[in-house]
Amino acid sequence: MNKNTFALKGTICYSRDPNTLITAENAWVVCENGVSAGVFQELPEKYRGIPCRDTKGSLIIPGLTDLHLHAPQYTFRATGMDLELLDWLNTYTFPEESKYADPAYAEAAYRIFADDLKRSATTRAAVFATLHVEATELLMDLLEDTGLITFVGKVNMDRNSSPSLEEESAAASAEATIRWLSEIKGRYKNTRPILTPRFTPSCTDELMKELAVIQKEHQLPVQSHLSENLSEIAWVQELCPNTRFYGEAYEQFGLFGGETCPAIMAHCVYSSDEEIALMKKQGVYIAHCPSSNTNIASGIAPVRRYLDEGMHVGLGSDIAGGFSLSILRAMADAVQVSKLRWRLIDNTMKPLTLEEIFYIATIGGGSFFGRVGSFEKGYAFDAVILDDTNLPHPQAISSKERLERLIYLSDDRNITGKYVSGKKIF
Ligand code: GUN
Ligand code: FE
Repeated sequence: MNKNTFALKGTICYSRDPNTLITAENAWVVCENGVSAGVFQELPEKYRGIPCRDTKGSLIIPGLTDLHLHAPQYTFRATGMDLELLDWLNTYTFPEESKYADPAYAEAAYRIFADDLKRSATTRAAVFATLHVEATELLMDLLEDTGLITFVGKVNMDRNSSPSLEEESAAASAEATIRWLSEIKGRYKNTRPILTPRFTPSCTDELMKELAVIQKEHQLPVQSHLSENLSEIAWVQELCPNTRFYGEAYEQFGLFGGETCPAIMAHCVYSSDEEIALMKKQGVYIAHCPSSNTNIASGIAPVRRYLDEGMHVGLGSDIAGGFSLSILRAMADAVQVSKLRWRLIDNTMKPLTLEEIFYIATIGGGSFFGRVGSFEKGYAFDAVILDDTNLPHPQAISSKERLERLIYLSDDRNITGKYVSGKKIF
């Protein structure tokens, strides 16, 4: 037997599809060469004698994916939640991000972020840095050291920001991006670049054209923001009068999904029917960020619709619009806001179920990274161990109920182990 083969034993929970949550008590999940060999009630003969971590009945779930967050906003999370998006960016976010021109500041702050992300239930993430090349590389170095698998983007922004946080020109932004890509080439195993035009108001047409060239040449995925806030959407319409809807402002430059340009768009709170149809056609990933959408009062995204239409949906913490790095917490938030949307906005759109939100947090976002987010044979072995012995109960409860309560209570202290592609993180 290959020496990279081992098993975890416990109460194993994973999704097969949005409506199917599988739980197996006293079961084994086997990892072979970083990939799941499947879940077994009895360990097959060929695996007898492999190393086994017996979690004594803890829950073992696939690693969670955070499809959208801003690393430089981590250290001011949970403050400044009194404004809407555009004022929030100008008042709190841009001044904070401008500090990342200083590598010493960036290193101190990014170290705090990387340590906490490592400890969380997140195994994969798509991360915005800032426009600064040196700080972005520091962030990538630190994330590589965590063992997590991430996409990291140096942010592009050449208009409408602030003098201390704006690139001089489209050409300067493109040049910095090319320099960044050349400096990190071959440097990492788990940390990959992703093209990151901040959002349409921050990027001139010239810059978008330059980025489209870089995207093609380097075969990069793209991440950005879409239809988050009503004032933002009205502004995009003014800035891009030739477009019918916000998504076209990316699509016209070829930066909106499709076979050769995987794309993550955060929020999609107010996407029109036409925008939704285009996202669907292009296979765009929607990063649903319920905490952020609540805190900066953006609204409630129609996730039930996206799921029912068979679109790609994952969860984003959207630090620091969102205040919690926990994707367990984002799962609870997503279910709660789906109930408010159902009650207050559209009673034909039923709230998300536990099965559905578990699917979205695991396979939904994980699939952006490949076969990620389940324990079915052939999926990358990303696993999180959740020990709930600090939550005693006199009544009998099912494994699904144990999982539900760990999601709602979303306490990092319950996380006692984590693996990424078969590598033990802790
Ligand atoms: N749109 C453009 N930049 C940002 C950001 O930093 N956070 C959020 N939530 N939306 C944005
Ligand atoms: Fe964001």
